[in-house]
Amino acid sequence: MVKDEYTLVLVKPDGVKTRHIGDIITRIERKGYNIEALKMIEPSEEKLRQHYFDKVDKPFFPELLEYMTEGPIVGIVVSGTNVIQAIHNMAGATNPGEAEWGTIRGDYGREWPDGNLRNIIHTSDNVKSASREISIWFPEFNIKDKQ
Ligand code: PPS
Repeated sequence: MVKDEYTLVLVKPDGVKTRHIGDIITRIERKGYNIEALKMIEPSEEKLRQHYFDKVDKPFFPELLEYMTEGPIVGIVVSGTNVIQAIHNMAGATNPGEAEWGTIRGDYGREWPDGNLRNIIHTSDNVKSASREISIWFPEFNIKDKQ
C-alpha cells in the first residue's frame, strides 16, 4: 500500500482577483484528490517570510513579498496518493509564459509588459516542504500527527 500524501496549494492574489479559485478546486476534485482544508487568508509578511524562508536573500524577494500581499490568497490542503508531484505538475512551470497549455499557469497566466512575475498558484514540491508549509498556514490541521 502506498501512503497518502498531503500537499499545500496557495491560490495567489492574482488567481483570486481573476476568479480562478473555483477552476482550481474543480481541477483538483475532477482528478479525484481530496480537499482536506480550505480558507481565505490575508497573508502577513511574517508568514510569507517563513513560507519563502530560503528565498529571503534572493534579489526578487521584495517583489515577491509585494506580490503576495496585493490581496487575499486561498490556502488548500489536498491529499491523495503521490499528490505532491501531481499537483505540482498541474501548476506548470514557474514562468507562466513558459508553462504548458493545460496547466493552471499555462491556461490562466501570461507575461505582462511590466515584467512582474504573476503565476496564479503555489504548490509544494516535496514531502518535507509540504509538511512545513501546511504547518505555517494550517497549524490547526496538525499535519505532523497525520504522517
Ligand atoms: S529560485 O531562485 O530558483 O529559487 O527561484 P524560483 O524557484 O524560480 O522561484 C521561487 C519562488 O519565488 C517566486 N518568484 C517570484 N515571485 C515574484 N516576482 C518574482 N520576480 C519572482 N521570482 C521568483 C516563484 O514563483 C517561486 O514561488 P512559488 O510560490 O513556489 O511559485
